[in-house]
Amino acid sequence: MTTTKISFPKNFLWGAATSAYQIEGAWNEDGKGESIWDRFAHTPGKIQHGDTGDIACDHYHCWPEDIQLMKALGLKAYRLSISWPRVLPNGRGAVNSPGLDFYERLVDGLLEADIEPMITLFHWDLPQALQDEGGFASRSTAEAFVEYTDLVTRCLGDRVKYWITHNEPSVFAFVGHAHGHHAPGLNAPDIAVRVAHHMLLSHGWSIPVIRANSPEAQIGIALNINFSQPASASLYDYHAWQYGYGLWSRWFLDPLYNRQYPADLVDYAIQNKYLPAEGLDFVEEGDLNTIANQTDFLGVNYYTRQIARDTEVPSGQNLPPTIFQPPHNDHDYQEMENWEVYPDGIFNVLTWLHLEYQVPKLYITENGASWSDGPDETGRVKDTRRLNFLKRHFAAAQRAIQIGVPLEGYFVWSLMDNLEWGYGFSQRFGLIWVDFKTQRRILKDSAKWYRKVIASNSVE
Ligand code: FCB
Repeated sequence: MTTTKISFPKNFLWGAATSAYQIEGAWNEDGKGESIWDRFAHTPGKIQHGDTGDIACDHYHCWPEDIQLMKALGLKAYRLSISWPRVLPNGRGAVNSPGLDFYERLVDGLLEADIEPMITLFHWDLPQALQDEGGFASRSTAEAFVEYTDLVTRCLGDRVKYWITHNEPSVFAFVGHAHGHHAPGLNAPDIAVRVAHHMLLSHGWSIPVIRANSPEAQIGIALNINFSQPASASLYDYHAWQYGYGLWSRWFLDPLYNRQYPADLVDYAIQNKYLPAEGLDFVEEGDLNTIANQTDFLGVNYYTRQIARDTEVPSGQNLPPTIFQPPHNDHDYQEMENWEVYPDGIFNVLTWLHLEYQVPKLYITENGASWSDGPDETGRVKDTRRLNFLKRHFAAAQRAIQIGVPLEGYFVWSLMDNLEWGYGFSQRFGLIWVDFKTQRRILKDSAKWYRKVIASNSVE
């Protein structure tokens, strides 16, 4: 059998990603304030099996070993997030120096190991003190985000070359405020849309601040953009796709790329109580200009394909689905509910973003898979499904590069198994296996394979 070798552009930024709440632990150490995820996890029934991020991967203490593992993997870059309440326990005002020191040591350690840090400022762990004032539903939290950004980028701006303002504002806004499955656990669609607006606003406000403090750096935002298609050619399913997918993608992309909020979605949002009858009453003059402030790159978190079906149509009145979805088996689906393995989607999404929004530069800031394979009797973790998953997604991303998409790097989610939000420790996404009782780490087969990909800058 002949294998083809697929090469990547010179200086392609191969990395892995994590976020603070999912790995750090030390939830109340050295002056850290409470976050909304601490509060949510400590509320019985919110996270599966009562899991919490109190200890998680204990990265707050194990970071030197974790950097050694990253080095062993040959990572060129590492995407991490900063815990806002670790540096500003009340969200604004008094600074917690030990918290800032932790991130200084971490960044210096990464640079010593020749690993480029890419820092996400907000990956969902909002200070509880700000939530008590309304959180991102209120403009004052957007203002506090700018103060926090200024503090962090003044401290680390001379060393960090990649800044991401927010991670997946859609998930934070909708899953946390409309569906209630994430912190702060609200079921208020109208609040969700306000939250999304204030996150985008705080993103726009922060850009000049980051540029001033970190003039050499590239700035972006990371959006969750899965691929989606209508289940059939019926108008019902088409609309389910247009509005459902639109609210998760165009609602964020359009204002970021200078097009205002999409009019079709504003109408839809009013009808479905995501907006009051008056519409966008929280948008003030100048907001949309601010949100459209130019960034240097877009981060794309891609995981799966979603088939849009209008399930409200009386039976027999919709067309039967025509999109093929493989029957459930453990190669074609991740262990995350209904997350189909769909590598072509990464190609489709990258080309769509390039053609539709003329995004100047893209990074895959997250892509990965959850399968729980653990060590066998020899201590080896044979996670063949993850290895094949990554191989197929890398190849699809490379096809996009070949037709001109400016994709400059790829961050696998995740460096190590960690706390998967509401699913707790039941979902393992890591390249590195973690024993959450002993904190032992083992490089999975996928990690050893990834090391070769990075070293050769190619996939075979
Ligand atoms: C994304 C999140 C990330 C992780 C992956 C599986 O939505 O950004 O923290 O949980 O999903």
